[in-house]
Amino acid sequence: MEGTSMCVPLLLLLLQCCPSLPVSVSTNKPRVEVHEFSDAELSCMFRTERDQNPRIEWKKRGKDVSFVYFDGQFRGAFEGRASIEGATVKLRRVTQEDAGEYRCEISAPLDSVNLGETNVTLRVLVPPNTPSCQIPSAAVTGSAVQLRCRDQQSIPPATYSWYKDNQLISLTRHANATYLINSHTGVLEFKAVAKEDSGRYSCLASNGVGKPKMCEGKHMTIEDVNVTAVVVAVIVVCLLVMVCGCGGFLLHRNGFFSRHRGRSFWISECHGAAHISRQNLNRTEDTSNVNYIPPPQEPQDFKHTQSFML
Ligand SMILES: *[C@@H]1O[C@H](CO)[C@@H](O)[C@H](O)[C@H]1NC(C)=O
Ligand SMILES: *[C@@H]1O[C@H](CO)[C@@H](O)[C@H](O)[C@H]1NC(C)=O
Repeated sequence: MEGTSMCVPLLLLLLQCCPSLPVSVSTNKPRVEVHEFSDAELSCMFRTERDQNPRIEWKKRGKDVSFVYFDGQFRGAFEGRASIEGATVKLRRVTQEDAGEYRCEISAPLDSVNLGETNVTLRVLVPPNTPSCQIPSAAVTGSAVQLRCRDQQSIPPATYSWYKDNQLISLTRHANATYLINSHTGVLEFKAVAKEDSGRYSCLASNGVGKPKMCEGKHMTIEDVNVTAVVVAVIVVCLLVMVCGCGGFLLHRNGFFSRHRGRSFWISECHGAAHISRQNLNRTEDTSNVNYIPPPQEPQDFKHTQSFML
């Protein structure tokens, strides 16, 4: 038993050394993840059959394929910020631009199979930025309210947690909690806000890369609808409409009289309220204005006045 278990690595070693194998290319890290502005190593290992001086090329797949390393030199954006050792490439200070799929190609014209390749995907991680938060400053009790938190740039995408008065809002809700948090979209949703939901809200974005970032907190106040205030407001608006309507009407009527001193057409226009106003006007004008000529009373008008007096 001891003998056979020793045999396996020996066999593997033999296979690897076997001089009849064609060119083979591999990588020890097909997926590379590095933080933005740090260095990245794109590994490429090869073995050739006979050719001691194979051609090494690196390409990057974007919209179209471009050369990274060709004819013994780095090209384009990689010039001056990359180095090669064997076929393994080291990039300095990578940015989002560098993220993508790279291919290491080895061609050994003297070998029976003269081309080999391997792919390496580079992902450039970006720590969270301060998220932008949308927090309403006020809401009415019982209304549905959404608070939003977003950090567009981070890679991988950030997850979000919400804080109320610097206390983490639990994701695991109580049976009677009125909120819902989606940690992936950053939305904190209240189906119906209550007064107790008033407080200072803030949101934290984190993605495991660098420090999590929090947006500036904002106070949200939840208030009841003030029923008496609403009723008073409605009454005031009604009164304003009435006063404006009849005031304008009276002006119109007086203007009409000063020019024509004749019969007016106004009686049919404004009903009860106007009659009251007119009644009052007549009374005051009777006593104070000696030049006042009362308008001719129409029977219909008189009847209305009578009913008002009763
Ligand atoms: C590398 O990627 C290219 C293009 O995506 C593909 O055609 C090729 O088969 C890949 N090579 C390996 C070894 O996976
Ligand atoms: C949930 O509601 C029950 C009664 O309906 C109440 O006794 C309990 O205190 C509430 N829990 C919370 C966390 O508000």
